[in-house]
Amino acid sequence: MFWRRGALLALFACGGARAIGQDTCVSFQPSSSSFSVVSKGKAAHVFLSSDEWPGVQLAAANFVSDIQKVTGVAPGLSNATSSSATLSSATLPILVGTLGKSSLIDQVVNNTNLDVSAIDGKWEAFLTKVVSNPLPGVSKAYVIIGADKRGTIFALYDHSEQFGVSPWYWWADVPVATHSSLFVAASGCSHGTPTVKYRGIFLNDEQPALQNWAMEKFTNGTGAALTGSPFNHFFYTKLFELMLRMKSNYLWPAQWSSAFGVDDPENQFFADWYGIVMGTSHEEPMMRSIPVEWGLFGQGPWDYNTNSQNIYNFWVEGIERAKPYEGLYTVGMRGNGDLPLGPSTNIALLEKVVSDQRQIFTNQFNGTPLTSIPQVWTLYKEVEGYYDQGMRVPDDITLMWTDDNWGNIRRYPVLSERNRTGGAGVYYHFDYVGDPRDYKWIQSTQISKVFEQMSLAVDRQATEVWVVNVGDLKPLEMATEFFIAYGWNSTRWSLTNLNTFVSSWAQREFALNTQDSIEVASIIANMTMFLSRRKPELLNSTTYSLINYREADNVLAGWNTLNESATRIYNSLSSAHKAAFFQLVYHPVQAGYTLTNMWISAGNNNMRTYQARLSANDLAEQVQALFEQDYDLEHEYHTLLDGKWDHMMDQTHVMYYYWQEVTQNTMPPVSRVSTRKPNIAGVMRIVPEGTVAAWPGDDQYQCSQGYNCPPPAISLDAFSPINSRYVDLGMGGSVPFTFTATPNVSWAKVSVASGSLSATKPEQRVEISVDWSQVSGVQIAQILLNATAKGQPPFSMPLYFTANHTRVPTSFKGFVEGNGGIAIEAAHATRNTTVGDVTWTEIPNYGRTLSGVTPWPRLGNNEANYTAGSGPSLEYDFYNFNTVGEAGNVTVTVQVSPSFNANGDDRPLGLGVQVDSETPQTTYFFPTAAPGSTPPQWDGNDGFVANGVISIIGNFTAWPGAHTLKLWMIEPAVVVQKIIIDTGGVQPSYLGPPESVVIA
Ligand SMILES: *[C@@H]1O[C@H](CO)[C@@H](O)[C@H](O)[C@H]1NC(C)=O
Repeated sequence: MFWRRGALLALFACGGARAIGQDTCVSFQPSSSSFSVVSKGKAAHVFLSSDEWPGVQLAAANFVSDIQKVTGVAPGLSNATSSSATLSSATLPILVGTLGKSSLIDQVVNNTNLDVSAIDGKWEAFLTKVVSNPLPGVSKAYVIIGADKRGTIFALYDHSEQFGVSPWYWWADVPVATHSSLFVAASGCSHGTPTVKYRGIFLNDEQPALQNWAMEKFTNGTGAALTGSPFNHFFYTKLFELMLRMKSNYLWPAQWSSAFGVDDPENQFFADWYGIVMGTSHEEPMMRSIPVEWGLFGQGPWDYNTNSQNIYNFWVEGIERAKPYEGLYTVGMRGNGDLPLGPSTNIALLEKVVSDQRQIFTNQFNGTPLTSIPQVWTLYKEVEGYYDQGMRVPDDITLMWTDDNWGNIRRYPVLSERNRTGGAGVYYHFDYVGDPRDYKWIQSTQISKVFEQMSLAVDRQATEVWVVNVGDLKPLEMATEFFIAYGWNSTRWSLTNLNTFVSSWAQREFALNTQDSIEVASIIANMTMFLSRRKPELLNSTTYSLINYREADNVLAGWNTLNESATRIYNSLSSAHKAAFFQLVYHPVQAGYTLTNMWISAGNNNMRTYQARLSANDLAEQVQALFEQDYDLEHEYHTLLDGKWDHMMDQTHVMYYYWQEVTQNTMPPVSRVSTRKPNIAGVMRIVPEGTVAAWPGDDQYQCSQGYNCPPPAISLDAFSPINSRYVDLGMGGSVPFTFTATPNVSWAKVSVASGSLSATKPEQRVEISVDWSQVSGVQIAQILLNATAKGQPPFSMPLYFTANHTRVPTSFKGFVEGNGGIAIEAAHATRNTTVGDVTWTEIPNYGRTLSGVTPWPRLGNNEANYTAGSGPSLEYDFYNFNTVGEAGNVTVTVQVSPSFNANGDDRPLGLGVQVDSETPQTTYFFPTAAPGSTPPQWDGNDGFVANGVISIIGNFTAWPGAHTLKLWMIEPAVVVQKIIIDTGGVQPSYLGPPESVVIA
């Protein structure tokens, strides 16, 4: 269940610079060829030229101030002129500029014959290096050259990060790492064109957290005149700087009660000035906020059938306002407020919408070719349906495919769609408001899942634009940076180094040593696994089984381990690093643990009250305490650093009643057992593992006959992965007592043979284990449970304990049935057979329990599929003692990720499942649905995305003995997580039984 440290590759800390994933050219010690940025208290002067982009001027000013923060020495910064006295001063300078824009850099390139062909004309590329005699009187300089505006900006911030300034220095209070000297390698750093052209974020569903916070921090309390929005240029310029430091370049601004272009006339101007490309969300065409701006300025209904002229004019104004600035324009149309368009909408009308929008571009841009005005059409929900029904837009418009709002991309470009000049992109979610339930609170996205989905996007050439919905931005910092970093350079990240991203991040943000940064990677991997296998908003008191497989206890034990680990590291940090660690690691671990613990405690309370156990009362107190602690954590976040992040944790998250958020957290219901009244069935309550029933007394769960029910019984197999069973003994009311638990055979061992229970210690768990050397076949022990209480009749009840010493032939290797079932992590195949160059490959830390396996490379056999029995396969040897109903059948459940039909309608995702030499059963597990919609099984509290898996269930013949289960690749992009073989005894649980015993 836990991420295995052994799987981690060594960490590289080249030159000591803490940066994530880029070539390192910065060091803190000189080498023979390095160039001094700061040494011996002197800093190299930084030169630009006055014809440089303002955004580069700004980034250079930040670059210089970053150097000062790191070293305490402020480099000079000026525009170079031929008469610059400092240019020929003794300190060798740094020359910064954009190719073809900066007269300084053009002069340097001319003078030195510097080869810039690697970046010339390449979007956002840069190079840096030491050059000799760049300018008259300058013997040597370090040049930082961008192929375009953002190329130069990214080069500067790339250095800043390596110097010791995290992109999140302000947004997550990451302290600057200080050094007395800074050097850069003579060969410099360079980067070509990024994998993804537009790498964007979308601030969305920003109420209550981001909006309330911004109102307090960036306004005098009232916000914009027309909308009340707090998102003015003071807010946005902070965001633009963060984005550029992360190498993000595209923004969909907050829009629910804001209008970027109206709220603050300087918003659009500054975006362009900084270097950010603006867009609007999928439902807001032509750079205007919908519904806000239409509500303010629109005339008549938002219906292109009946009101096209007014809407057309409204769009003209949007383009007039935006055209001075760099933009990637959303085209098309959705209903007002991100709703589907009305029933009268048809493809012809939407095509007219797009063609009218194109006319506006032509008019407004004075005939600039449409192909050089970037446009995107997002295929979201019903709009994807229009596309599927045949609607097309001109080739130069980028088609943006979308996920299902739950991180599963609905469709990627198929081969025939990949030669479009506008290309394709992806709109993805880390945060969502909608069915089956909002998830907006804390980070519940696994980067392994992001990698799995977005690597498909890369391979399927959806790389023109990526936008991720980041909700309030905080607390999704790390996942956001991963999404952007992967789009910046997808070749850096692979299945084998995803954890290196996190450990490098931990080193950069918290100045941790290698060991602790690996531990943080483990914490993050497990935390996001725990929070994503069921979103916190979907948890309730019975999500995890309280009675089977010790599931709830194991879930809590997992959280407890994380919490201990996070607490240890938190306590070891300098006070300067505590705030960042709290925001990025400690808070979500504690908050996730507290919420989960509260729900499970509520479940245990509810169950114990039903069972009439006095211990229910302590659990009621515990639920109350955890409910308060949940708020304490929110309060701690809000009061951190004198309230810098006040409101950022305002999001409610406890006790949803339907998909939409609650307006207030409410405590889960608990109940109490009388502390004053004796229990009429006797002093002691007896609850064996695996049942809700309690003895003595009538209880519908003991058996259907009520008072005629036999005494409690439990059983244990030799190959059970949990090698004991327990019985809980407890007070049933006001009367304290002493108890004994006495087996009548020597092979049954009890962990506690006697004790006393009272109000301060109302229950005792007694573990029963077996000395298997003394047991052959099936043997039954009686464990006599006696209770003695003053003034009460003697109490005595037997518990029958069955031990089944199952045995497998000595030659057998593989998974062995325990207690009526076999559970296997998909990654633990007995054999893995490659066909062509395609192999089922593990995605570490993926899914609900351990990992996933998927055909690799992502496109499989050049995107071809297989019939069951011909492609790559996984085999699992297993041994069963039972069959369902003794009839020779077993039920096989293969849990796969809820991936969509990624290969087009004629290529649904499928998997072949086979037992022994029976004919393989091929299943296409994602039911078809109307174009652009999801099948009913996707939705609901027990649906595909709520559960995080789709269960493929099949029946197979497997008489007791040794067998082999085979999984056959049919289509690429299928991810298998876990396999459960029910031989008649599998009990309900959320995650399935723990993995079976394996004989290796
Ligand atoms: C360089 O010149 C530009 C344009 O005049 C100006 O905006 C900028 O502030 C100057 N930069 C420095 C560092 O003086």
